[in-house]
Amino acid sequence: MPLHQLQHSIGAVLLSQLRSSETPPERFRHLTKALTQILVVEATRKLPTLERKVETPLEMTTGAALKHGLVAVPILRAGLGMLDAVLELLPEASVGYLGLERNEKTAVATSYYAKLPPLNNKVALLLDPMLATGGSAGWCVERLYEAGAEQVILLCVVAAPEGVAHLEERFPQLEIVCAALDRELNDKKYIMPGLGDFGDRLFGTF
Ligand code: PRP
Ligand code: URA
Repeated sequence: MPLHQLQHSIGAVLLSQLRSSETPPERFRHLTKALTQILVVEATRKLPTLERKVETPLEMTTGAALKHGLVAVPILRAGLGMLDAVLELLPEASVGYLGLERNEKTAVATSYYAKLPPLNNKVALLLDPMLATGGSAGWCVERLYEAGAEQVILLCVVAAPEGVAHLEERFPQLEIVCAALDRELNDKKYIMPGLGDFGDRLFGTF
């Protein structure tokens, strides 16, 4: 499974500021959006295209159009912080929502909401900033393939090796693009060094 870790100086600077415990929610939201813009460019770098004739003011030339339609799917809540950046770059994408929440004691995620547009022959960009155990993302990836997605790309800010290994075993064809691959999970299944609870920091629910 291709795991792609962002190599970008601005991405590294934005991530450092996201990690800082001194960053307040309004700044955290801004940084999330800026970093997601870079992640989207990276994640869509090799999407298949079709040739398109374009008439410039001077002559006809050959341009490109995406072969497959795109669907952005944020995992609630934290994935919502990544959605605007995707839609600004890819305004024609449709949007699905999958809601999951981890139990604070067991770290097992359960689903509370699902609403997906048609996915047949589409590329799904699954948005979740934190890939920890992989339980949340794994549940969602399964739903997206079941719904007929041609290709699924998971965009995350920080990934843990445990979550990557879990997804790799279950979905060899899944692509993951992350800003950082961190060291490990702690005994509460938080990513170390990580940046804490992303949803709480994004929405100020400490
Ligand atoms: C967080 C995060 C991921 C999930 C990752 O969500 O946003 O969705 O945990 O953990 P996992 O890989 O072990 O499943 P959380 O359940 O805290 O919900 P929230 O986004 O509503 O805060
Ligand atoms: N979810 C978070 O928001 N942070 C972690 O470190 C792990 C799961």
